[in-house]
Amino acid sequence: MASMLAVTLLFWPCPQPHVLHLLNRRMNQPDSKPPQPPALRSQRWFAADDLRGFAHRQRMQQMGLRREDVIGRPIIGILNTWSDLSPCHAHLRERAEAVKRGVLLAGGMPFELPAMSLGEVLVKPTTMLYRNFLAMEAEELLRSLPIDGTVLLGGCDKTTPGLLMGAISMGLPAIYCPAGPMLNDRYKGKTVGAGTHTRIFWDERQAGNVTPEEWVRLESRMTRSPGTCNTMGTASTMTAIAEALGMSLPGASSIPAMDSAHPRMAADCGERIVAMVREDLTPQRILTRASFLNAAAVQMALGGSTNAAVHIIAMAGRAGVALTLADLDEVARRVPVLANLFPSGDRLMEDFYFAGGLPALMNRLHEHLALDELTVTGRPLRENIAGHEVVDSDVIRALEHPVSPHPALAVVSGNLAPNGAVIKPSAASERFFRHRGRALVFDNQPQMQAAMVDPHLDCDETTVLVLRNAGPVGAPGMPEWGGLPIPRKLLRQGVRDMVRLSDARMSGTHYGTCVLHISPESAVGGPLALVQTGDEIELDVPARTLTLHVSDEELARRRAAWVAPVQPFTRGWTQLYQRHVTQAHLGCDLDFLQAGAPTPEPVIF
Ligand code: FES
Repeated sequence: MASMLAVTLLFWPCPQPHVLHLLNRRMNQPDSKPPQPPALRSQRWFAADDLRGFAHRQRMQQMGLRREDVIGRPIIGILNTWSDLSPCHAHLRERAEAVKRGVLLAGGMPFELPAMSLGEVLVKPTTMLYRNFLAMEAEELLRSLPIDGTVLLGGCDKTTPGLLMGAISMGLPAIYCPAGPMLNDRYKGKTVGAGTHTRIFWDERQAGNVTPEEWVRLESRMTRSPGTCNTMGTASTMTAIAEALGMSLPGASSIPAMDSAHPRMAADCGERIVAMVREDLTPQRILTRASFLNAAAVQMALGGSTNAAVHIIAMAGRAGVALTLADLDEVARRVPVLANLFPSGDRLMEDFYFAGGLPALMNRLHEHLALDELTVTGRPLRENIAGHEVVDSDVIRALEHPVSPHPALAVVSGNLAPNGAVIKPSAASERFFRHRGRALVFDNQPQMQAAMVDPHLDCDETTVLVLRNAGPVGAPGMPEWGGLPIPRKLLRQGVRDMVRLSDARMSGTHYGTCVLHISPESAVGGPLALVQTGDEIELDVPARTLTLHVSDEELARRRAAWVAPVQPFTRGWTQLYQRHVTQAHLGCDLDFLQAGAPTPEPVIF
């Protein structure tokens, strides 16, 4: 053991003075006693002069590596969510090479590790079913292999929280390298963005305003290059949240995927993670309640996706930070929407990058941020954003000139949602903020889809559409079915928004007066299960209430008659997920991943 430590320390340069200062401050140590660099975890595999150490080094040499390539150097695992069926991550193999370049130049040794790729559009029934799977995979990959630190390559919606949740639970130094948004596109002279305009054009096709030929032409538009959706959808929201948490390099989340700055940023990630290993700069030292509130403030200022309300609570849970929907609502009430991006605004991520990107937005938002929070740079947030000015105030607005008078999130509750539900007022219709209407209830998604094309469907613009059995357990996986379509007959009358309720999520690129994430969900007996067509439902966003106008006695009678839906999943991942997933207001993590003592390091024998 002593010889192993000696080999390790031989390769450690002294941390920079400003880093030492920060580390000492965090550890409550006087500056005169610099912390000792930690022993390299990977050397448990590679440094020992025994049979196992021999075998581990021998297998490295089998791949053409030299023993000095793995002895005494930080070993960096690059968790890559690239796949041939993940269009938003099509460039991540090349980016992994850039990360490797940075790692090697800094004196580390990189190894690329494939991880489950959750391409949002193609994975069924929903990527959300597999977010926790990716988190488990990331954690166990890092634990089971000789890794000292990790660069996380992701970007498409669930990959960001999935990778970060796993890395947080494992606790090794980690840096998040976002895939970056795809390039802007235009169609017939108008700005068009992924997701948002797909829905707009689809509604117009249903209304008879887009021909089948034009619909085919549109297939090749809006998604102009590799990279994540270029609207302020869930991907852009979550990568910005990762940066606001301090887990990405400053400005990283705003760089377009196809910009030459992107591979340079990836190389910087590789270089920086080697230093982070030497500084023992783990997620536990970066992530605090204040950093999660910073992330929430950024979500609101961006007009970010409602999905973040689930993911940010789940990530906080992994970091041991108590964060609630009430916290998010409080932040949303004080932080206005500043980023003029679809679906709350009318610009795209490339415009945001040229306007100064996230560091400029955070600089503008500084009075709402805790600026002393440590980040992966080894410096506080204050230093990362200093001097970053907004260069286009139409894209990144001033606090006194927000994009919308309404917040990016509101949490409503009442007898229909005892544990809360969310809505995005900045992308909803103000005329529905106080609305009472008759419920039209669908028990499942196929039933709802079939009804939408019925020319005789009994509804009008005041009807409240309700979808149930679409939550974490019920669907399963809480898919993005919460942006219920407008019935075709109403689209043809010119209706483009209605009040819609569900226990599902909604794509961050979508819009409309949609109350989402109703908790507890209907499949576990939440009050949503008891609603009947014809009941009166009242939404009051300013009062933050959602009320089912049915007497307690009648609800009790319905509850007594309620039968839980039969689930067809009796084996495998889905069954495990359904048994252990928490409800939306708790983040939809698996209960056994948020509880218990840290998992011990593996025995090496
Ligand atoms: Fe991948 Fe939108 S589909 S980010």
